[in-house]
Amino acid sequence: MKTQVVIVGGGPSGLLLSQLLHMRGIDSVVLERRTKDYVLGRIRAGVLERGLTDLLREAGVADRMDREGFPHHGTLISYGDEMFRINFSEHTGHMVTVYGQTEVTRDLYEARERSCGALLFNVDHVVIQDADSDAPHVTYEIAGVSHRIDCDFIAGCDGFHGVSRATIPYRVRSEYEKVYPFGWLGVLSETPPVNDELIYATSPAGFALCSMRNSNLSRYYIQCSVDEDAANWSDDAFWAELKRRIPAAQADALVTGPSIEKSIAPLRSFVTEPMQWGRLFLCGDAAHIVPPTGAKGLNTAASDVHYLYHGLRQFYETGISDGIDAYSHKALARVWKAERFSWWFSSLLHRYPDQTAFDIKMQIAELEFLRSSPAAQKAMAENYVGLPY
Ligand code: APR
Ligand code: PHB
Repeated sequence: MKTQVVIVGGGPSGLLLSQLLHMRGIDSVVLERRTKDYVLGRIRAGVLERGLTDLLREAGVADRMDREGFPHHGTLISYGDEMFRINFSEHTGHMVTVYGQTEVTRDLYEARERSCGALLFNVDHVVIQDADSDAPHVTYEIAGVSHRIDCDFIAGCDGFHGVSRATIPYRVRSEYEKVYPFGWLGVLSETPPVNDELIYATSPAGFALCSMRNSNLSRYYIQCSVDEDAANWSDDAFWAELKRRIPAAQADALVTGPSIEKSIAPLRSFVTEPMQWGRLFLCGDAAHIVPPTGAKGLNTAASDVHYLYHGLRQFYETGISDGIDAYSHKALARVWKAERFSWWFSSLLHRYPDQTAFDIKMQIAELEFLRSSPAAQKAMAENYVGLPY
């Protein structure tokens, strides 16, 4: 087979790239290791920056998001019974959209299928070959049968555990990682959200987050130790611990119910440099991971896709390769800022096992500064709604 761009990975970044390229008449083939249902079965965050919502609109997949998504013009931060609001619109003129990542992925699959996009599932043994030449190709197997696709470019959108990053020789790669000494225990429940905006809470017992998917589907998280087992947490124990970490008024107003999903996510920051090697380009989790605190995972994957899409468009429409030659540099510049914000917000709101009394005083002083300083709130808001591409 021959195509212009082989995309390894059928998650949100691979599908968004494939759809955007399709809109410009650029062919691609998406190779996904799992089934579509498996990919759609993964529970992920759901706060979309304006850059991503604009890209989804350009890709022609924004209708349901515009109908069912919730515009959020601010968020709340609490510590103990103190609570204050960061007004995104006042500080930046922009908002975020609360709409599940699973829904974004579902809309992208539907769009790809509507235009008969080449999506191959249950793909095994993907091997990226000759990426450092002008004629790369990819080999893979489906049901034990080997296949080969010749292409011009390869987009590695196969997440942290994919094959693309490992295709870049180790001697070329620099990897940066920070593993946080805690995780998030998350619960999804068919209950009305405790508040119409997100609440990021910190307390002597640690972090908590009150989020939502819709008016009767709520998502809550509490900080837990890394070796915690979700099965050890009854719903009652979860709700009791959540109530301990949010302001009393919200704890009283909280509607609890049976969890329909309960899982633990580790917190990690990770970046690999460079994000391209020859004609192989890494996007999203294949190149970087952020702790979920700032909801930057999907949004940073989207900015990668934005830079690669525009670079490929320029190449195929003009023959000029400036955009793709500068891809890694451009993408990493924004990735590191998202990493910094996610690290800062995580450090501010979580309790660390080895924290001293002085460290805790620093956190409270930082929260007090954020609560009282318009300049600090503006900086937080600019990062949260999404820095310009
Ligand atoms: N061959 C083919 N597909 C693969 C391979 C492989 N060797 N390895 C992994 N995949 C597929 C996975 O099954 C998955 O569907 O690649 C896809 C990668 O998708 P994601 O992990 O969702 O990564 P990405 O599309 O970059 O989206 C980033 O996902 O994890 C969240 O917080 C993260 O929100 C961010 C978003
Ligand atoms: C979520 O809704 O799952 C969510 C929202 C914001 C975050 C992380 C997760 O920062």
